[in-house]
Formats: sequence, structure tokens, C-alpha cells
Amino acid sequence: MNSEKTVVVGVCGGIAAYKALDVISSLRKNNININVIMTDSAVKFVNPLSFQSLSQNMVVTDMFAEPKAWEIQHISLAKKADLMLIIPATANVIGKVASGIADDMLTTTIMASTAPVVFAPAMNTNMYINPIVQENIAKLKNLGYSFISPASGRLACGDVGEGKLADTKLICEIVLSKLYDKKDLQNKRVLVTAGPTIAPIDPVRYITNRSSGKMGFAIAEEARDRGAKVTLISGPTNITPPFGVNFISVKTNQEMFDKVIEYFPTQDIVIKSAAVADYKPREYSEQKIKKIEDDLTLTFIRDNDILKKLGEIKKHQVLIGFAAESNNLIENAKIKLANKNLDYIVANDITSEDAGFAVDENKVVIFNKNGSIKQLDRMSKRLVARELFNFINS
Ligand code: CTP
Repeated sequence: MNSEKTVVVGVCGGIAAYKALDVISSLRKNNININVIMTDSAVKFVNPLSFQSLSQNMVVTDMFAEPKAWEIQHISLAKKADLMLIIPATANVIGKVASGIADDMLTTTIMASTAPVVFAPAMNTNMYINPIVQENIAKLKNLGYSFISPASGRLACGDVGEGKLADTKLICEIVLSKLYDKKDLQNKRVLVTAGPTIAPIDPVRYITNRSSGKMGFAIAEEARDRGAKVTLISGPTNITPPFGVNFISVKTNQEMFDKVIEYFPTQDIVIKSAAVADYKPREYSEQKIKKIEDDLTLTFIRDNDILKKLGEIKKHQVLIGFAAESNNLIENAKIKLANKNLDYIVANDITSEDAGFAVDENKVVIFNKNGSIKQLDRMSKRLVARELFNFINS
């Protein structure tokens, strides 16, 4: 989708300038064309050659270096940009833009562009909370400029507080979502479940499975970027909750069941990608189970089949399940589609090493209850999510 898009990245002079390389690298992996403009002080922190190598484009540094070309260059970059990202945005550049000063290539291009401009500030805490900087930020926000708030933490100068550049992954995600123009889920409510659930045995032990949550999180992000109001109910994972999503953290099957049932009536599309535990110990031991001489036998009893329940009570909702299979993929998936009264099922072969559980890619077949099938090649989970919504909306 984004292959035609251009982001003009403005790099300012701050210690976090090197982190812009990370963001550019991720955007390139998403087929975004990158043009970099560096301020004079940015060049003192990072060599332009690094930006040139990663962006695979000439880096613009000095407005007056090529007297004949500069005017064309700043106007053409301003026109070419689908979005401008200013990273790290210093107090100086924020102040200049807020005051209408355009005295170098970066500020001139910002001024001449009609594309959305996103600032990712990073600076010393006292500078950041300085009322002048805050007033400039407020003024720019009112004028429609976007800001990705800095994080709190230990800063390069040793101070602790707000002012650390936001997580580069988050910055990249926000940029990608702003570039996204397929808004075919506008105003739809989408509920996604993700990750494993756990079944506690005693205060220190539980059983669970190897689900990482990556597939469900990718679906939630894709739905959000297509304009949906997304609720993501997830078991324990190591992934940061996506921005702009109503995130609900649960642990057990019962907790997931209760939350899903609570949200279900108001949803338009429900996608159950969680790997829910089917069994739990017959008894939970309040005390830690002590070891004994003999083998230990635990009895597990059936727990809720959340998706089956949804299939029984569904009204207007489009219901989508996953089928994690290690054999007879197609037959088993079709049985689950029918048994759980689903509209679609996404079947994945979990025995494949480079796709499926706990990795970044997946290889799936999607079945519609009406008999149509979409077989996908191995691809990133985000692309699987995209193809899934394309199929539903086709
Ligand atoms: N699911 C669920 N509740 C369960 C088990 C599964 O809601 N207790 C949902 C999953 O989120 C998934 C679908 O049902 O969307 C299929 O899950 P899967 O683990 O493949 O199948 P099961 O129904 O558990 O059957 P089996 O383990 O026998 O393959």
C-alpha cells in the first residue's frame, strides 16, 4: 500500500539524532521513500553519509551549498512529501516553526509543505517543560501539527524526567498509520483477542502455551489504521500495547471469557486469534504444592470454549476464528468453521518453523463460510492482517 509514499525526515541537532536512523530503516522496510534534511547542528552529531546509505537518497544539508538548486530543492521536497517527520525535534526548531522563521533548508521546507508534519521532540527535561517550549508546542498543535510525546527516563545529560525521544518503534508505527489511506473500517467496532491464556496450578505455577500475541496485535493495528474503533483483549505477552487501541489485559480463560462477553454485543467484527487454554487444573492449590516421592498426577477439566459461545449468541457480528493445526489443516479448519458457527476461519500450520507461533511471519489459508478460500504465501503478520481484512471487505 505504501510503496508510493514519501516521508521527508528532518533531523535536528540533538544527541538522539542517531535514533532517526532506526526509524528510517524501519520505514524503508515498509517501502517508504525517504528524503533526509539535516540541520547544521545535526551534521555535528551524525555523519550525513549514514542517512544517505540508509535512505538511499542524497541528504540535503545546506540551503546555500548549491545556489542554483536550493530553491527548486526545498520546494520540490515540500511538494514530494506525503508526511514530514522531525526527529529529534529540538526546542530551537519547534520555536522557529512556531514563530514563522524559515532560515534554513529544514524550516523552509516545513513552511512550504502542505503535508502533515509530525514532531518527535527530544531535549533536556527542563527545556521541555519550559513554558516557552510548551507554549510553542500548544500553538503548533492548534495549527494542526502533530507531536509524539517524549518518554520519561534518564536523559543523556544525566537528568531524569520527560524529554527522552519516544520509542522508535512507536514513532514508526504512528508515521505508518498516518500514511495509511485505506479507511474501509471507519466507525466499525472491532474486537480482537490475542496471546495465550494461563491456567494457574498453585501460587507459583501455571500452564500456558507458546502464543506470542504477535498475530492478534498485528490485526488490531491493521484495523485501527483502517479507521476502526479497536478493543484488544490479550493474555500475557511481551509486546507493548498498540497506541490508539482500547487495550485490556487478562490472564485466564475465565477472565478473557468475561471481557469478551461484556464487549461482544456492541461489536461489528470479532476476531479470536488468542490461543485459549482448553483445560484448567481441577483444583487450584492455595498453597505451593510440595514435592513428593511418587510421580505427581494433576487432573485437568474443560474450560470455556469462548469462540463456540460467541457462535451461539451472535447476532449481527462477523465472527472470525483461527485454527492452529499440526495435521489435517484444511479438514480441521472447516470442521471448526462449522462447529463454532463462524463466518471466516484463518487456518495456520503450527508445525512450520518459520511461520506461525512466536515468529514474525505466518502462512495461512482463510476460509469463508460460503466456500470461498484465500490461500496466502508466507508473509509478515501485519500483511496477513491486511489480506484478512481485504478478504472480508471484498
Ligand atoms: N478458542 C476459544 N476458546 C477455547 C479454545 C479456542 O475461543 N477454549 C478459539 C481460538 O481463539 C481460535 C479457535 O477457537 O479462534 C480455534 O482454536 P484452536 O486452539 O485451534 O482449536 P480448539 O477449538 O481449541 O480445538 P483443538 O484444540 O481440539 O484443535
